Amino acid sequence: MKKLASAFLASALAVSLVGCGGGGQSQPTAEQPSGEQKPAAEASKEEIVIKFSHVTAPESVKGKAAQKFADLVAEKTGGQVKVEVYPSSQLYGDKDELDALVAGNVQMIAPSVTKMVKLDPRWQYVDMPFLFKDRDHAVKFFESDVAKSLLEGDALVSNDILGLVFWENGFKNFTNNKKALVTPADFNGLKFRSQAGKVLEAQFKAVGAGSATIPFGETYAALQQGTVDGQENTFDNMSTQKYQEVQKYLTVSNHGRLDYAIFVNKPFWEGMPADVRAKVEEALQEATTYELELAEGQNQKAYEELKASGKLEVTELTDEQRAELEKSFAKVYEEFSATITPELIDGIKNLK
Ligand code: LMR
Repeated sequence: MKKLASAFLASALAVSLVGCGGGGQSQPTAEQPSGEQKPAAEASKEEIVIKFSHVTAPESVKGKAAQKFADLVAEKTGGQVKVEVYPSSQLYGDKDELDALVAGNVQMIAPSVTKMVKLDPRWQYVDMPFLFKDRDHAVKFFESDVAKSLLEGDALVSNDILGLVFWENGFKNFTNNKKALVTPADFNGLKFRSQAGKVLEAQFKAVGAGSATIPFGETYAALQQGTVDGQENTFDNMSTQKYQEVQKYLTVSNHGRLDYAIFVNKPFWEGMPADVRAKVEEALQEATTYELELAEGQNQKAYEELKASGKLEVTELTDEQRAELEKSFAKVYEEFSATITPELIDGIKNLK
């Protein structure tokens, strides 16, 4: 795993090295007035701040990995580069963090990839029901050429965004406060919170359910107040958000993925002195290895905690019940295969 992650990141980071060597439109420090160029030796000693905004809790998989990255950067650059991590939508929530990145108000984000639908609908590959067979399949995808084609997509490049590398969370499962969800018919008439995009809307519609896009930071309140009946997420996100306090039923379906990618503001990234950026990239590579080693175990632990809370009635779907759900969700492929592109869907399906 370690070796694979390193190999993949090395190739992904090569993208960010294209065009490096100074002369970028934007300088990496607020202190330096725009347009004023400093000699390289002097510039490379300047303090650089990377604001890293995300929406999950500090103790979530993403929260821990973001902090690990910050610590590694401080260590490797001797404090010259400071990564300020803003968790829990403190600085920007789902609706704004991508705009903030494009505007250069933050320099790094790690959204659940479906939220990139604003720029490129293909990122909804992650929402296609039952596309990934298991965790290894998802990790194989992170390191594949098809994944690279997303990170280097035209829409990102033309918005001055660089996609560097994938981070993992895990498989999604359903909770709600009305009834145990066992068959597709059980979803009928319920309303679910969804992250973003038409694919998730279609997934719920395929089983007769409604959905509403609600920012992650507002989901607990929406569940508590009954704005929606249920939601889908990974065990780690459910547990760190304490959804067990406001939900009664958990169905283990593993029907879709929730994963991340690290995006940076391109002029900022390429404007960092090359020697400094190399250390930051090394830190990202190590933080990525850490993240990939952490995610699965932490999700498993979260599942045990959710069960032990005694607050949720848990249903683990059998293979037959999952197959029934998969059949109902097949409509989503009819509707969205062209948008997501056959190259991407078949590329993922055919990963060996
Ligand atoms: C969600 O909105 O449910 C997730 O994208 C949150 C996250 O970043 O894991």
